Amino acid sequence: NMRGIILAGGNGTRLYPTTLAISKQLIPVYNKPMIYYPLSTLMLAGVKDILLITNPEDTGYFHRLLGDGSEFGISLNYAVQTEPNGIPEALTIGKHFAGQENIFLVLGDNIVFGTGLTPLLKNAKDNHNGCSIFSYAVKDPKRYGIVELTKDNRVKSIVEKPGNPKSNLAVTGHYMLSNEAINLAKDLKKSARGETEIVDLLLIYMKENSLNHNQFSRGFAWFDCGTHVSLLEASSFVETIESRQGYMVACLEEIAYHNGWLSSIDIERAANSKYRRTDYGDYLLNLLGNNR
Ligand code: TTP
Repeated sequence: NMRGIILAGGNGTRLYPTTLAISKQLIPVYNKPMIYYPLSTLMLAGVKDILLITNPEDTGYFHRLLGDGSEFGISLNYAVQTEPNGIPEALTIGKHFAGQENIFLVLGDNIVFGTGLTPLLKNAKDNHNGCSIFSYAVKDPKRYGIVELTKDNRVKSIVEKPGNPKSNLAVTGHYMLSNEAINLAKDLKKSARGETEIVDLLLIYMKENSLNHNQFSRGFAWFDCGTHVSLLEASSFVETIESRQGYMVACLEEIAYHNGWLSSIDIERAANSKYRRTDYGDYLLNLLGNNR
């Protein structure tokens, strides 16, 4: 049973002064806190046991927001990262939580949305061995970790912020990893910027010929909400989808309901208590209306 880890620490310096006093992953993307989106990704993949890694000073806020996860039909555990020492540290921190299971590691500021997301994630999860990454075509490849593919869709190289990009496919913050990643992460050396690098971990899998590539194709939207502009773009994207279609993006109770993790009674209770007289609560009640 794959375990989920969301890495939601970091300093968020590019969002200063907004993130001086609050975690980046608690600020809103349109109408809900950012953390809802990576949580929804894990839940769509069918991952129910999730570890949330935050900065020490933020844990209380996340806990107030999400509790033990039972309101969303999931099991949430908490851990802290004392310093942003790099993405692979999430695996070291999550060692006991993961036990012997494989891991789906998602960065707390990554949002992905598009038709076919659920089958893509579930398929990667069900056929999982080694490591699976998910790429997305970007306009400005010099800003990202860029993956180069062979003709038969195998990963040939991954280069962080390449001066001379070999493709426009950026590696997104979604990594499905075999359990051995925990041991591999332990031995990674810090890079020049003083962090261990997820790319170094991916390259180990690549050399063992066990790095699988999936693409969020052009019908998808992917955002890392690390800058003021990307945050605003993500917010307006969510607003557009929600107000045009009437469907919510990353409504956690809705996903849990569809997964059979919450009952109609649970949904009704949430709508009439926690979310009473809110748009979010009305939306939940509507879900049940359509089913009656
Ligand atoms: P980054 O955007 O690389 O870092 P940041 O969020 O601190 O922002 P800035 O660069 O503006 O200072 O991190 C990407 C995501 O991963 C983000 O959700 C924070 C998380 N992260 C950690 O929680 N711990 C880490 O050690 C690193 C490197 C990232």
